[in-house]
Amino acid sequence: PPLKRFVDPLPRPMAAIPDRSVYPGADYYEFTMRQGTWQFHRDLGPSPVWGYWAANPNDPHKPIGMGYLGPTLNTTRDHPTVVKWRNELPTTHMFQHVIDLIRKPDPELTPIPPPPYKSVQPFPADIDVWNVVHQHGGYTAPQSDGLPMQSFSPEGFHAEGYTTLDPGRAKPNEAIYGYTNHDHSCMLWYHDHAMGMSAINVYAGLAGLYFVRDPADERLGLPRGEFEVPLILQDRTFNADGSLAYTMTNREGEDTPVVNGKAYPFLEVEQRRYRLRILNASNERFWRLRFDVPRDVLLQPQLPFWLIGTDGGFRAPLQMLDFLIGPAERYDLIVDFSKIPVNKHVTLTNYPGTQVHSPGIPGCGPEIADIMRFKVTKPPSGGGDRSTPPEKLKLQAVPPIKPKPHTRRREWVVYQHQLFRTMTFNAMPFMEPSQDFIKEGSTEIWEYINPNHDAHPMHVHLVNFQVLNRQPIDAAAYQKQYDKWVYGGRKPEDYPVLANYFTGPPIPPDPDEALSYKDTVKAPAQMVTRIIIQEFIPPTDEIASIPGSGAKLPATYIHHCHLLEHEDDDLMRPWTIVRADT
Ligand code: C2O
Repeated sequence: PPLKRFVDPLPRPMAAIPDRSVYPGADYYEFTMRQGTWQFHRDLGPSPVWGYWAANPNDPHKPIGMGYLGPTLNTTRDHPTVVKWRNELPTTHMFQHVIDLIRKPDPELTPIPPPPYKSVQPFPADIDVWNVVHQHGGYTAPQSDGLPMQSFSPEGFHAEGYTTLDPGRAKPNEAIYGYTNHDHSCMLWYHDHAMGMSAINVYAGLAGLYFVRDPADERLGLPRGEFEVPLILQDRTFNADGSLAYTMTNREGEDTPVVNGKAYPFLEVEQRRYRLRILNASNERFWRLRFDVPRDVLLQPQLPFWLIGTDGGFRAPLQMLDFLIGPAERYDLIVDFSKIPVNKHVTLTNYPGTQVHSPGIPGCGPEIADIMRFKVTKPPSGGGDRSTPPEKLKLQAVPPIKPKPHTRRREWVVYQHQLFRTMTFNAMPFMEPSQDFIKEGSTEIWEYINPNHDAHPMHVHLVNFQVLNRQPIDAAAYQKQYDKWVYGGRKPEDYPVLANYFTGPPIPPDPDEALSYKDTVKAPAQMVTRIIIQEFIPPTDEIASIPGSGAKLPATYIHHCHLLEHEDDDLMRPWTIVRADT
């Protein structure tokens, strides 16, 4: 039977508690990855899950966590954080059948493409679990970035790129990373980024929130405390006993929306403004979200809301009725429940919508509609809502990054191989060494050329960027010429000249993504999506006087599709910042 909706209260991820005595000048945390149990719904049995537990400096016997996902890291802008990530997961994977299929692919059975090149090779065949943690969207030195080649196993086996700060304090199954928090105030997140298996690791529960706050924000008058609510959106499939099933089939009726770890939860709200901080932490699903109200409640069927920030921080407030959020994107919203009568409700829903220039958005299908419900229970407590009305918020518009005539363009072709059932950028497997050398301090335009039939959320580590525009291309002709280049020995004269394939003029970014700080962008099918990245400069400062914690040039980072199955299967490439005078 279908799960009963809106019977479980929305959990709130707990906050980790810093220890300030270990590294003077930094907040220090110890996070341990562990297997636990978690109930996704009142009527589902407990499921084995993976999650992060934070050491509790006030009571060592009471680690902080809930089993699934991980505690929230709250940080202050420019005040660094040091985290020791410890791997105490079982040495057999929760989705061992997937590992077995990756090792020994069965083309009839496997829902996952066979290993393209080297994605599972950093580890010997008797090691089935490895992990690494990436702080998504942060301004971080490469040795603390949690890149796939930095993976390490519970037994303490290291991939060749393993790094740790302060090695004397790290056991083999641990890695110590430092985060500068030189970011705008924003909601980042951390998640598993293991070589070739981030999809099953995140699916098992390895993700959590990371807030950067600026003390200056307090003057803005935003809803805060219990009126600021993070929503981690995921979709999950369950076995009959309530345990997580990793199928990636998107079977009709079997995909269940999960918010902060609960299926179809509800949140009791007052008649006031709330700040909702939404993260799409799904493996592959895009959500088109809106707030539906019952017909008799308002004159209109949806509750309008204000967008006040995206991936990398605040933006000029924008009133909206719906938006499309791709995997790894964040939307910072003000939603006003003050006009909703007590005992009425508002439902956060996902609906297919018309995808004018976004054909092939996966997961927007009808199989998930209702996600969660806000039940309005009472008038505002504490003498009323004193938060600033969104239209009066003093939020500066993000200044546009303007391309100059000499700004370098870099092409990244989303290439679906014909021989392998896998995808790459520029027909290059991930493990081929970096070939993209970017001068420190330079500004570049990156063009994600997507000639296939699906949209991909593209994420660039280290930087924030702006969406410049998109332009439709003759995808079939482009693909044909690209195939010719690949299979004809990559002769320069065969390489498709992008400008010859345009089928229309550039389309400006959508209002919700224009003039905002992004780290992940939707690259729709049969389009080139252009982003502009200002100032490739890695953080060079030493964190908490830990020697070697600052970045050194050359500094290699990555970018990838954030459909986790694609990132594992080679739609990911390194790139390198080099000295400006080289
Ligand atoms: Cu959220 Cu490289 O990832």
